[in-house]
Amino acid sequence: MASAKSITVRSATSADADAIIGLQETGFGMRYGADELPYRWELFPIERSLVAVDGDRVVGHTVDRTMTVTVPGERQVPACGVSGVAVAPTHRRRGILRELYTAQHARTEADGLPLTIFTASEATIYGRFGYDPAILSTTISIDRRRAEFRSTTPDPGGVEMATLAEAAPHIRAIYERWQATVPGAQVRPDAKWDLFFADVERHRDGATTLFTLVHPDGYALYRRRWRDGRATASVWEYRALTPDAHAALWRVLLGLDLVETIDVEIADDDPLPYLLADSRAARVTDRGDSLWARLMDVPAALTARRYRHDLDTVLAVHDPFRSAGGTFALRVRDGVAECEPTTRPAALGLDINVLGALYFGAHRAASLAAAHRVRVDDAAALRNLDVAFTSERAPELGWFF
Ligand SMILES: CC(C)(COP(=O)(O)OP(=O)(O)OC[C@H]1O[C@@H](n2cnc3c(N)ncnc32)[C@H](O)[C@@H]1OP(=O)(O)O)[C@@H](O)C(=O)NCCC(=O)NCCS
Repeated sequence: MASAKSITVRSATSADADAIIGLQETGFGMRYGADELPYRWELFPIERSLVAVDGDRVVGHTVDRTMTVTVPGERQVPACGVSGVAVAPTHRRRGILRELYTAQHARTEADGLPLTIFTASEATIYGRFGYDPAILSTTISIDRRRAEFRSTTPDPGGVEMATLAEAAPHIRAIYERWQATVPGAQVRPDAKWDLFFADVERHRDGATTLFTLVHPDGYALYRRRWRDGRATASVWEYRALTPDAHAALWRVLLGLDLVETIDVEIADDDPLPYLLADSRAARVTDRGDSLWARLMDVPAALTARRYRHDLDTVLAVHDPFRSAGGTFALRVRDGVAECEPTTRPAALGLDINVLGALYFGAHRAASLAAAHRVRVDDAAALRNLDVAFTSERAPELGWFF
């Protein structure tokens, strides 16, 4: 049995391509379709892959691409987005992921990126590397026949049916305007748009190709599924820039004849539940983390976002995996932060993970302190931090990777 010591981590070459795909398919228990593979490589080019090799066999893999993500205060920040993390089942639990993440972080540091982000398959893997769940998502299931609108819900109209191809420029334009304002939402690069509009078979999971609804300030894409005699519409993505666009799209979606159930993922500040007369018509069917984050460079990351309360505090930050921790003075005036190492005594102590959890505004510092994840030497400092890190808009993942 090879130990991690006999494993080499190196940059991948085109000769590793088939082995990387085989490893990802084995790790995630799926098969890429021929219709998807070219887009997979366009989105995560092989030059950005790191592989762990045992002799001439590829037994571990990570890949990244630099993403642009909105942070609170509508600022755009570059972040390392990691994907495709897999270790061969023949080589698991010998430290290969740890080796890969050491190399991955060194690369991100060399690229000068303040944050690393990803979506995680399991919640127990990445805390040790300084990550925490940073954005949550909620999936609801709506009993369409029970979903009457309140008398106060407007019916603004303006929604039209379209084909995905003809709506593509409109969808891109709306997404870009939406992305610029929502914390956690990433710019969707051309490679991801190509995959999105290709509407590949694996994404359908037995449902139809996408149906498209457009409004001047929004769009909704959904699939239809008939299973065990039940008819469902699953919303694949919808974005509404205004309350009218939101109400207009939901008037059409909830008016879909021959549909019993509508499944949709919503942000925490989505007004949809408030449009309905019977709030129990919408049931939460899933609640979980959608994005994980870690600060790679505490001052760079903390000065990149804006804040909702003035602060003048000192944080003792412990990094369990790298050496990005230290004691930092954080000063905020009118939303804008300055942050630098200091020798002043700390008012609050926390793992760097906690800063990842707070960064996009999905979690409250007071709750994390109540969970014993923030050491509080100054109660007023915690109160200020708690308010300062909140976000005007609920954070939301822009696209899964
Ligand atoms: C998850 C996976 C990448 C781990 O790879 P690995 O090489 O076995 O991990 P390592 O041996 O380097 O483990 C590093 C640490 O993480 C822990 N760990 C690894 N996988 C874990 C898991 N699934 N759950 C809990 N802890 C895990 C190890 O116990 C070890 O802990 P320690 O060093 O702090 O004692 C691998 O099991 C895999 O490919 N799984 C299927 C695909 C997947 O889930 N990928 C992750 C996508 S986000």
